[in-house]
Amino acid sequence: MTPLQSVASLFKDKFKKEPLLVVAPGRINLIGEHTDYNNGFVMPAAVDKHLAFAVAPNDTDQFNFYSLDFNESFSFRLSELKAGGHWSNYMMGVADGFKDLGLSLAGIDCVFGGNIPTGAGMSSSAALCSGVGFAFNELFHFNLTRLQLAKIAQRAEHEFAGVRCGIMDQYASLFGQSNSALLLDCRSLQHEYLPINFQDVEILLIDTKVKHELASSAYNQRRAACEEGVSKIQHNKPSVQSLRDADLKDLELVRPLVSPDVFIKCQFIIQEIARTQQAAQLLKANDLIGFGKKMFATHWGLSKKYEVSCPESDFLVALAESFGSDVLGARQMGGGFGGCTINLVKKTAIQKYTAKVSKEYVASFKKEPDFYSVMLMQGVHAEL
Ligand code: GLA
Repeated sequence: MTPLQSVASLFKDKFKKEPLLVVAPGRINLIGEHTDYNNGFVMPAAVDKHLAFAVAPNDTDQFNFYSLDFNESFSFRLSELKAGGHWSNYMMGVADGFKDLGLSLAGIDCVFGGNIPTGAGMSSSAALCSGVGFAFNELFHFNLTRLQLAKIAQRAEHEFAGVRCGIMDQYASLFGQSNSALLLDCRSLQHEYLPINFQDVEILLIDTKVKHELASSAYNQRRAACEEGVSKIQHNKPSVQSLRDADLKDLELVRPLVSPDVFIKCQFIIQEIARTQQAAQLLKANDLIGFGKKMFATHWGLSKKYEVSCPESDFLVALAESFGSDVLGARQMGGGFGGCTINLVKKTAIQKYTAKVSKEYVASFKKEPDFYSVMLMQGVHAEL
């Protein structure tokens, strides 16, 4: 059974009524890492790993959620919303976002579940918040736009989960389109769709199975380092509102005023914003070899300069680089400290590549990596 069939059938058994069915995809990111909260460019896409929701109003003031995957229920009222690290806090954060806009939600029953690997850097929490927001919007006819829903979902991460994330994940989950990536300008919040037709090349994710406990505090620290760089650059050039507005010369001028750590973090971001724009041009020109080289460059920047990689991700990317022309590009994907690497691999070499990666990874780290071939899909939507 698909996740959608499972949640639909359980919902009908439990509640004896017809639910609204919603699908909310996870995302990959081809290139443009940690650039979203610096107002730069990102290139994500929604993928066929997703969460499914069966949901209906219940004519009470109670919000009842049942997670099929965790076999766990949780209920709350709008007067009881609070922050925390549990999945239910994300739901509360979304409800709070609607409340904050002055929209009156009423109680619902919801069964949800899916197949996005958690902690793998595919944004299961963004899919969770985007899917729940979409369902509220449909059920209570609020007519919010997808951008408003993305902002509510992002706010839930900030205020109810304590991660000061950018908007890439929520945006990709809501705006994804089949066979396309998004080139999103995080300053204007406008996007263009880039058709992805790699033909003989596959997008392969390799899950390191590393989940970093401190990832959210390290993420917030990186963001603070970028803000510090901007505040120093602003003294010389007040028009700079974010690292998107700065170039390497602007940064060089403040080198004596910032720590070496802040300097190198800001340098990586300025380079990554430029690299993402160059990568978009290469993709449009169908130059996948050039595009892949940009991915490798991003990885080593993330590792050596931004310092959000880990030995396992570095190992996998070095192995990809040593594989020759069958692997066009690879890099760690998402916030960092593990999760998945994203690899562009020739279809004819997939078996050889996965066999070699498995063998060498197990020999070095005593654990099996997981492999996911992903398809690019439509963003959050209702299923009839
Ligand atoms: C996480 C955040 C995103 C983005 C990436 C890094 O996924 O949620 O907003 O910053 O990390 O690119």
